[in-house]
Amino acid sequence: MALPEAIFKLLKPRRKASGIELTREAMANIPRHVAVIMDGNGRWARKRGLPRRSGHSAGAENLHEFCQWCIEFGISYTTVFAFSTENWQRPQQEVDSLMKLFVEFFARYEEELAAEGVRLRFCGEIAELPQSVQETMRKAETSSLQRNTLQLVIAFNYGGRREIVKATRELLTDCQAGELEPEELTEEHISARLYLPDVPDPDLIIRPSGELRLSNFLLWQSAYSEFWFAKVLWPDFSRHHFIAAINDYASRQRRYGGLSKEERGEK
Ligand code: FPP
Repeated sequence: MALPEAIFKLLKPRRKASGIELTREAMANIPRHVAVIMDGNGRWARKRGLPRRSGHSAGAENLHEFCQWCIEFGISYTTVFAFSTENWQRPQQEVDSLMKLFVEFFARYEEELAAEGVRLRFCGEIAELPQSVQETMRKAETSSLQRNTLQLVIAFNYGGRREIVKATRELLTDCQAGELEPEELTEEHISARLYLPDVPDPDLIIRPSGELRLSNFLLWQSAYSEFWFAKVLWPDFSRHHFIAAINDYASRQRRYGGLSKEERGEK
């Protein structure tokens, strides 16, 4: 008889490469959804005397590696912040290079992502993006629908406040149409009108680069997320840092405003 998956994961030999490994506690508490603010690409490039777009390219490479670690650790969802609704304010050349990089990323990694079983999803104001980006998204989404190892959600032209405004507009329209009474409105109604309502809230949000803020990322969904910050720049964020983040996450007591499992007398 095959071993149950959880036991198999516990027994699986742990890879030695970085000197730090997942603790037993972490292996039993792998976050289901990890979100990442991929920050520090510009500084990474500047330190090397390279143009900012080289930093973003290195960041995109690291995103592909990151997906492999997610699969290795059994994480089901990852959401990454790749372009914010505020990023249009950057120099046109940088904006153009980010749009181009997006399209190139899928041309380059589509086969590997397919072989790895990665399902692609996108959130943000998609209709405002260049046609080439929208077309790439449509193709990636439809061709990966049946894959189920990891769901990679790319937040592109995304802003947490814009997402809440979108949900509010839709709910007001329902109220005007008499389909919803204002006093019936619940948190679930708002959650159901976010870009990807079926994706669970992130358990862990990682922000490298030394900045200690959320920058309009997943404002509604992060209400009970755990945060992990580090000074490392995103292109240098390694498997080692990821393991440290998961070990740290697993050692915390999540209370959701109530009591921890231990305090409730549960194991
Ligand atoms: C923030 O670093 C990063 C971004 C605005 C872009 C992130 C995009 C990528 C990693 C590429 C993703 C690509 C695909 C294909 C999804 P920053 O430029 O603000 O860095 P800085 O704070 O050091 O200047």
